[in-house]
Amino acid sequence: MTPLSDEQIAFVQGALPGVILHEAMSKHTNFRLGGPAALYVVASSSDGLLTAVQTALQAGIPFYVFGGGSNILVSDDGYEGLMIQAANREMSIHENRVKCESGVITAFVARKSAEAGLSGFEWAVGVPGTIGGAVYGNAGCFGGEIKDVVATVDAYRLSDGSRMEYPNAACAFGYRDSLFKHEPHVILGCTLTLQPGDTDAAMRTLNEINARRKAKQPLAEASAGCMFKNFDFRDESELKALRRNSDIPQGMIEAKRLSAGWLVDQAGLLGKTMGNIKVSDKHGNFIINTGGGRAQDVVAMTSLVKMKIRDEFGIMLEDEVQLVGFGE
Ligand code: EPU
Repeated sequence: MTPLSDEQIAFVQGALPGVILHEAMSKHTNFRLGGPAALYVVASSSDGLLTAVQTALQAGIPFYVFGGGSNILVSDDGYEGLMIQAANREMSIHENRVKCESGVITAFVARKSAEAGLSGFEWAVGVPGTIGGAVYGNAGCFGGEIKDVVATVDAYRLSDGSRMEYPNAACAFGYRDSLFKHEPHVILGCTLTLQPGDTDAAMRTLNEINARRKAKQPLAEASAGCMFKNFDFRDESELKALRRNSDIPQGMIEAKRLSAGWLVDQAGLLGKTMGNIKVSDKHGNFIINTGGGRAQDVVAMTSLVKMKIRDEFGIMLEDEVQLVGFGE
């Protein structure tokens, strides 16, 4: 990582009065680890977010926009650039349309929509982080995916500096995937279309989802949620070609998707520790910082898990969590 020059730092400080130097990212990530960001700023409006990005571009320094810090692993060496927290949190509901800026917390959108008697987004009460991050990674849980409710996404396209309103069909959504993972953009907001429903029913669904998540996932621990993507296979022949293909639950065969947590569990890795990093005893796809853990141990743990799953099943797991400051 090339250190920022004094001139670059002074330029950013002049343009963004709220900028902080050497901010520990361990304070801003659900993993509770990660070294310092050379420069750190909280953008509390969409205009502020754009100004921060444009300032970094003008200064010629790297920048990274994050939302809730729930799905990132920041290197122990930190980030030599401008880390921008999207905290643009305007939200409004008109009839069945929910308009949010990208920094709104996803679970808050789920709750407010349910309270307004709208249904179709209750499942998102179980998604950590911001709605911008949820759009970026097409977040999903308990059968729902954000792609099923997104009408439009408001984003700044970095390749030509234009502000776009993408309809759903242009977002190239896939399993934990979207256009925004492949072409650099800054997501500024989105509009969701939900179904008119009943507040009591929506709130009941929301509370059930919360309870199911609490029962299955280690929510009180420091982690980035699911570390790996689940493994999608196309057909029976691909499944048969696996090194080990017995005892696979019928539901996963039907869904053509093997749960990475189940694979980790089958490989006997629940509870495995490395320094202060541990594979959860409760769910194999959660890697936990038990206190004072280092990002390098998370990386070592994910490598070990990947090797073991590759050796046992012939499957190469892919990261779901975004790596920041690793020279990517
Ligand atoms: N299972 C095990 N052992 C484990 C983990 C799971 O046997 O250690 C079994 C469960 O008993 C169940 C099956 O595997 O029969 C599937 O497990 P689960 O319902 O927990 O779902 P998952 O596929 O492991 C996905 C998402 C989660 C989301 C849950 C709930 C991914 C990578 N994960 O997990 O999303 O919360 O469904 O719907 O798609 C996240 O993205 O950060 C995340 C946590």
